Amino acid sequence: MLKPSHTNPVSATLAGLAQRIPGVRSLLGTSLGSQPTELAALTRRMREILDDPEARQSLAPSFRGESLVTGATSGLGQAVATQLADAGASLWLPTRGGRTPASLHQSAQVFPVDFADLTTLPSVVDWLEPRSLDLVVLNAGVMTRESRPTKQGLESMFGVNYLATFAFLRQLLASERLRPGKQTRVVLVSSEAHRSAAPVDLSRLGAWVDFGMAHGMRQYAHSKLLICTFAAELARRLDPSAVSIWAVCPGPVNSRIAREAPAAVRPLLDLVMRLGFRSPEAAALPLVALGTHPTFAGETGRYFHVEECKPMSERALDPEAGRGLWDATESLLRRLDAAVEPPAAIYLRP
Ligand SMILES: NC(=O)c1ccc[n+]([C@@H]2O[C@H](COP(=O)([O-])OP(=O)(O)OC[C@H]3O[C@@H](n4cnc5c(N)ncnc54)[C@H](OP(=O)(O)O)[C@@H]3O)[C@@H](O)[C@H]2O)c1
Repeated sequence: MLKPSHTNPVSATLAGLAQRIPGVRSLLGTSLGSQPTELAALTRRMREILDDPEARQSLAPSFRGESLVTGATSGLGQAVATQLADAGASLWLPTRGGRTPASLHQSAQVFPVDFADLTTLPSVVDWLEPRSLDLVVLNAGVMTRESRPTKQGLESMFGVNYLATFAFLRQLLASERLRPGKQTRVVLVSSEAHRSAAPVDLSRLGAWVDFGMAHGMRQYAHSKLLICTFAAELARRLDPSAVSIWAVCPGPVNSRIAREAPAAVRPLLDLVMRLGFRSPEAAALPLVALGTHPTFAGETGRYFHVEECKPMSERALDPEAGRGLWDATESLLRRLDAAVEPPAAIYLRP
């Protein structure tokens, strides 16, 4: 079986393209037959929705829930927010600079936030008051060309993709902003790149990492391994009848994620992305299905790669790693003066 590598921009792009070719997909070990039964059943349910034009059309027709989407000003997040709004959901969009996504036809509540500045997160939680959310899509993410600090001096992919996502969701859980007495769905956008990440050294969690263009993918993969490990730990701690946790990789998406690529490779990269990658609208469909479709009720802690339910990497699923990351992240946030409270008891497993 082949193991796709996401350790540099070229291999990551090639791995993404390879995943789009059905014959190659089975060589990568992603055929239905190779998955445990309960995951294969979830894959089948997803494919039934995506393969049936009528089911797809009516993906979220009766979903009127209060939905929060991060990173909704571009790419995948914008497409998710637009599909949710078209279905009738009430949208809460914390966006950089308080910008409204261009494609939205319906009105949405928009509020400024910066995931590269932890001090902006509590104001989003206050802004939601007294609303309760039915769906939370944590999608904001960056892929930077070289290491760059957040407001708190952390490396940006660690800070935006993981730490702010952790802090923000933990604040929502602590302040009871998820609908009580109903199952709120939380979707964390990760990446298959998490499988290529080096083991996490918790004693150095959040330590500055210096990298240039050739090695940025390693740090990106690290941030996505942290997201998957966090998702698995949340699923172990939270009562699935109160909160269901999903992690997803949308596959290669023709978005603005590679916006920092050097000018010399941009024309070729743009062409590859346009011709070989999924449109944000197509990539959003499985994510919206996970967030809204009744067929996925009651599940938690699952990982989808596009339409396929797979196990996360062993590192991400390791309960000791999950517990350690939870504690180490709380300690880091305390050191940064951005401590988070424990999740409210109503969301915890009995
Ligand atoms: N594209 C792919 O091939 C691919 C593959 C696997 C996983 N993903 C993941 O999918 C997610 C969405 O990415 P995308 O492909 O749609 O890329 P994108 O077009 O660049 O969208 C990224 C979104 O995140 C927001 N964001 C970035 N930094 C932020 C910050 N400091 N504060 C608040 N919001 C911030 C951006 O806001 P601005 O508009 O203000 O910049 C934008 O709305 C990311 O988590 C990414 O890692 C993408």
